[in-house]
Amino acid sequence: MRVLPEHRAPHVAAIAPLEPFARSMEATFAHSARMVASGIDEHLPDADTLLACLPPGALLGSAHSYTRHLVYADPLERFSAMLLVWRPGQSSPVHGHRTWCAYRVLQGTLSERHYRWSPETRRARQTGQVARTAGDTFSVPAGLQHIHALGNASDAIAVSLHIYGVEPASIATGVNLLVDAELA
Ligand SMILES: [Fe+2]
Repeated sequence: MRVLPEHRAPHVAAIAPLEPFARSMEATFAHSARMVASGIDEHLPDADTLLACLPPGALLGSAHSYTRHLVYADPLERFSAMLLVWRPGQSSPVHGHRTWCAYRVLQGTLSERHYRWSPETRRARQTGQVARTAGDTFSVPAGLQHIHALGNASDAIAVSLHIYGVEPASIATGVNLLVDAELA
């Protein structure tokens, strides 16, 4: 399923002088996302405290999909924090990001697949895969610079905390930029 919009540039000539600036924004976004991850490392409560924020029974997960539980909403709607519960075999779609996000593994092990965007094929090609274990914290900038899929390839429940740069009502549509992946 592709929901990545086709590039729209109705006034290319007018935009061209701003292209170097636009490219520099990639580095700015990446830097701001790293700052978020640094803040998480410094100020987040410990894993047990966070896991206690889950509703009763939520640690069992769901047979249908990984589950998401809102645990904090910024009063000014600048960010939201969610706990995700992953049963073995459950995975996110391949996606870039419409906004910054960061995550920390609280329990178990997640598998993160990395992809590189190809402007020619307008698809993402997998470049690697790494295991993320409890305590690992990572940030992801907005854009197609960092495309990934997270999932639970282990045989035990995994839980992660995700912080997104949107209000709760926008999490479903305002975070993931779904892309097609090239077939392996
Ligand atoms: Fe993501």
